[in-house]
Amino acid sequence: MKAYVVIDGEYRLRDVPERSPKDNEVLVKLKVAGLNHRDLMLKDRVKDKGKSFILGSDGAGIIEKMGDNASRFQIGDEVIINPSLNWYHKSEAPPKDFEIVGVPFAGTFADKILIHEDFIEQKPKHFSWEEAGVFTLSALTGYRALVTQGNIKKGETLFIPGVGGGVNSFIIQMAKALGARVITSSRDPKKLKESEKLGFDRGVLTTGDWKSELADEQIDMVIESIGGATFNRSLEVLKKGGRIVTYGSSTNDEFTFNLRQFFYGQYKLIGSTMGSREELHELIKLIKEYKISPIMDKGFSFDQIDQAFSYLASQEQLGKVYIDFAK
Ligand SMILES: NC(=O)c1ccc[n+]([C@@H]2O[C@H](COP(=O)([O-])OP(=O)(O)OC[C@H]3O[C@@H](n4cnc5c(N)ncnc54)[C@H](OP(=O)(O)O)[C@@H]3O)[C@@H](O)[C@H]2O)c1
Repeated sequence: MKAYVVIDGEYRLRDVPERSPKDNEVLVKLKVAGLNHRDLMLKDRVKDKGKSFILGSDGAGIIEKMGDNASRFQIGDEVIINPSLNWYHKSEAPPKDFEIVGVPFAGTFADKILIHEDFIEQKPKHFSWEEAGVFTLSALTGYRALVTQGNIKKGETLFIPGVGGGVNSFIIQMAKALGARVITSSRDPKKLKESEKLGFDRGVLTTGDWKSELADEQIDMVIESIGGATFNRSLEVLKKGGRIVTYGSSTNDEFTFNLRQFFYGQYKLIGSTMGSREELHELIKLIKEYKISPIMDKGFSFDQIDQAFSYLASQEQLGKVYIDFAK
């Protein structure tokens, strides 16, 4: 099988041996694999470790082979990969043995993936292959941040800086489906205009003066993923006693933070990461009910995977970038 692996510090497409599924494993022939910010980060981090890795957390395809004890699915079933390994039930934090598909386990940037049958799900029928292949990591992260950790309620006002993010595009659609008023931002006025199809109520420029522009809003919750570049400004527009949920830091992990203003404001800071299989099942129910689909940006062939990474790094995209193995 063909895979995108790190060799001598460089990523290359290589032929690698195909393993047969054992016990409860299944071999899925992938049709589409989705790219995430995590792949960009890991691509730099793992390249000097002298080992070979297959990146990629999202994907969808068809079951080609099954181990002797696998029984949840059948050969030929159309499935999506659940990248959130070993986290079965909703809990305050992931279990100790939680891992994400794609480093340290072989990921989806390969034309086939071997995975335990517990971590695949039936492909939602209203999704195309492209949509199915980019869905899980972003949507599951967004679901837990918004619903489990953020506990969004009907009628609340939510601010989500950075409309261009893959996770944020799901959060906006889910928050609208659940009856929230949604405000978002972007650095790019064109992106803000194009993303109106997500259904948000108000959009502002990330470069603008949020404090004065949003002075007329009572923001109950902010979902922050940009990190150091915007965290303090997000806190400034949150109503006193409001909650700020963070699941990412696309800019800086570390920055200065005014503790006194925070405790005077009686704010609540909540962390969130990925989600459990139980939350994935809830999410699939929600997206089926409200016909929520990923926002797609651009597809690349497997041979063009380096270009796909460069495109993701450019941050020009609005929505998901993916590899189409049939191209
Ligand atoms: N904890 C988890 O389980 C988990 C899962 C998935 C992702 N993440 C993290 O969540 C973050 C978002 O990931 P993603 O893949 O959805 O999105 P992404 O492609 O990294 O985009 C995030 C958005 O943030 C805005 N942004 C980025 N840099 C900015 C800057 N310097 N100033 C202002 N705005 C900026 C941009 O919005 P505009 O282009 O609209 O301006 C961008 O589109 C990443 O940090 C990622 O590592 C965490």
